[in-house]
Amino acid sequence: MSFFSNNCFFSSYTEDIIKSCDAFSCGDEDMDDFFHNDALDYATFMMGRTYCFRLNENPKKIVCVFTVSNDSIRIYDLPRSRRDFMLKITHHQKRLNRYPGILVGRIGVNKEFARKGVGSAVLDFVKEWFADESNKSGCRFVIVDAVNTPDVLSFYQKNGFTFLFTTEAQEELYTNPPKTEEERQTRLLNPPHLNTRIMYFDLLNLE
Ligand SMILES: CC(C)(COP(=O)(O)OP(=O)(O)OC[C@H]1O[C@@H](n2cnc3c(N)ncnc32)[C@H](O)[C@@H]1OP(=O)(O)O)[C@@H](O)C(=O)NCCC(=O)NCCS
Repeated sequence: MSFFSNNCFFSSYTEDIIKSCDAFSCGDEDMDDFFHNDALDYATFMMGRTYCFRLNENPKKIVCVFTVSNDSIRIYDLPRSRRDFMLKITHHQKRLNRYPGILVGRIGVNKEFARKGVGSAVLDFVKEWFADESNKSGCRFVIVDAVNTPDVLSFYQKNGFTFLFTTEAQEELYTNPPKTEEERQTRLLNPPHLNTRIMYFDLLNLE
């Protein structure tokens, strides 16, 4: 049994928790700011729901916080090889334009518990949660917009996530489609650095 499954319990992330728990920091200022100031508004407007794990022995200690929202992967304008791959992984009676998934929009592990497998355990939890047959809607993928740094990308790769696009140039064109072929060619030649990369985990691969 891991540290996480032995020592933590799960709940919604509420105003009461924010007020009564020790200040939470995952080391990323934007992420901390989101959890302190924006997460509850996201819940009020049904744009994202935030959950946390806290320590059994000290419920004021938040170990990890994450936010999830419904999402999908647009299939029809993926690069040809990825689109062909996606078309093969589902039934063929009807071609769907989008495949359903759940977006882990934010995830932060308390700095005090970094590199202990907590983040990975939370991703395992999310995978099981949304693959479960009691989930009310179809959900094929766990999707993330991974911060484009080697440590975060390696975190998701170690947890079985795949890049939706091989290159940042392809991803940039998909995220912000060009209006003309000329613009497309120009942007392909001068791809900007992306702050995040789209990655996914196929819930049919859950063992
Ligand atoms: C990214 C984050 C969620 C990882 O949580 P964690 O509990 O520390 O991750 P794990 O212990 O499960 O780490 C698994 C792997 O992730 C990678 N990783 C995580 N943190 C890393 C770091 N600081 N430097 C390098 N690699 C790192 C490593 O590959 C690690 O495997 P290893 O320990 O065998 O080398 C956590 O560091 C965090 O909250 N970061 C700030 C917020 C953030 O960037 N969230 C992700 C946004 S998409």
